Amino acid sequence: MRVTIHNIKDMKTKGEKIVMLTAYDYATAHLIDEAGIPLILVGDSLGMVVLGYESTIPVTLEEMLHHTKAVVKGARKALVVGDMPFMTYHVSVEDAIENAGRFLKETNCQAVKLEGGEAMADTVRRVVQCGIPVMGHIGLTPQAIHQLGGFKVQGKTQQAAEQLVKDAIALEEAGAFSVVLEAIPTPLARIITERLRVPTIGIGAGPHCDGQVQVISDLLGLYTDFVPKHAKRYATLFETIKQATRDYINDVKAGTFPTEKESTAMDEDLLKGLKE
Ligand code: KIV
Repeated sequence: MRVTIHNIKDMKTKGEKIVMLTAYDYATAHLIDEAGIPLILVGDSLGMVVLGYESTIPVTLEEMLHHTKAVVKGARKALVVGDMPFMTYHVSVEDAIENAGRFLKETNCQAVKLEGGEAMADTVRRVVQCGIPVMGHIGLTPQAIHQLGGFKVQGKTQQAAEQLVKDAIALEEAGAFSVVLEAIPTPLARIITERLRVPTIGIGAGPHCDGQVQVISDLLGLYTDFVPKHAKRYATLFETIKQATRDYINDVKAGTFPTEKESTAMDEDLLKGLKE
């Protein structure tokens, strides 16, 4: 049975930590689903860690739908959340509903995520009223990177911290089933987590959130252009894959790959006839 938003909300009630990871393709989704991840985010971080963009801003709806479709096929149990890219929910509520609807209809994912607090609450309310579960995202919201002036910790002044508390409450009241808290001080994340009934999922927000999310490429040491302070490496796949590629190059050049084991023999008589 696939995890539902109700299971995720119940985890907060039971004090069970929620673990979320990003995935962008079928194979990775299958792998982390089998490992027991209950919540997969097809993040628009796709733009940076898979498509090579400098930020998440250029990511298109079509790119997100394409990758979300693949992830849903690979994830048999986890709840899959599709990240709505920049400018697909800002211009009008109608746009937001239509584009959120495309995620559910075309990819079969179970929820969408969008960035923004109080200012996005009406949009979240209307999308949720259409039967589309929404995950909120406040703090460092990468789609607003130019407004924020860089990838900086948010909520460091009293006014900014109070606004983040208001943002979180507004999202909960609008019907969001959970809220991502990105790059905010640990004590502030704790206050928000204690104040909300729906779960908070932290990334660079300390240990008191109800759950944690990480970008899989940071976790596996695959993306080395930029490693955020909040990321912990559980593997160094960049080095492992580079070494495996070098071994392959050397084998081919030395004639030690392929061997008989990786090749197909032919019937001797057939071969003889062919040669004649
Ligand atoms: O795009 C993404 O991967 C995200 C997470 C960092 C929360 O939004």
